Amino acid sequence: MNEHVHTATLSERADAIEEKMMHELAERVATKSVLFGMADGKIEMLNGFEFKKNNPDKFFLMGADPRLPAMPAKPTLIDFFKNRFASLNHLLQSAALALKNGHDEKVVLACLLHDIGVASFIRCDHGYWGAQMIEPYVDAEVSWAVRMHQALRFFPDPSVGYEYPQMYVNNFGADYKPEPYIVRDYESAKNHKWYMTARLICVNDIYSFDPNAKVNLDDFVDIVGRNFRQPEEGLGFDDSPSAHMWRTLMWPTRYL
Ligand SMILES: [Fe+2]
Ligand SMILES: [Fe+2]
Repeated sequence: MNEHVHTATLSERADAIEEKMMHELAERVATKSVLFGMADGKIEMLNGFEFKKNNPDKFFLMGADPRLPAMPAKPTLIDFFKNRFASLNHLLQSAALALKNGHDEKVVLACLLHDIGVASFIRCDHGYWGAQMIEPYVDAEVSWAVRMHQALRFFPDPSVGYEYPQMYVNNFGADYKPEPYIVRDYESAKNHKWYMTARLICVNDIYSFDPNAKVNLDDFVDIVGRNFRQPEEGLGFDDSPSAHMWRTLMWPTRYL
């Protein structure tokens, strides 16, 4: 009896697999970039030639990945917030705090965007990545501040009540020392005319981890509208130096 049940289950499973494969034949195959594998400690790449030899009827994905939320034809920054950023809470809370503290819209926008590198793209050097993504579309002071908050986070400034975050001691250990390029960028940022804008990101950042605070993206749509130059063609379809980064976020599993 048990054997019969077992056989039936296997057969059902085979049917399910066959159905799934047939279903997949109608779909395109999403490809993982090398970087995605490195996160699992592997350096490897799909051999397209080999794959096509074994799956001659299949095609690779060259556009939208159906597993991800659909993006409109002409995406805006807000569309990326809603459909591609893994978490909005921290960004919204930072921006809300900056607003509450009476800072101008440049600072509020810088706080809203300061960690989009982490929220959407990559953790390592997130300030530099995030700054590059927004550089063509915002005031130079905003992208400079986002870039430099990466370094300033690790250095206290008692004049504004900013101490080295206890969270970093917990996360990285008490003996963690920032790399020389971080120290270098901190030293050069210290005497820059926009130093305080980058520093204010850190000041409004550190108190922004309240999981119960409710902040709405709608509260910032106007500030984004006034301070982020939305390209007419859609973010990613313009010809800016970072358009390809937005396209990659849109289509992270395209074959090429
Ligand atoms: Fe950050
Ligand atoms: Fe942050």
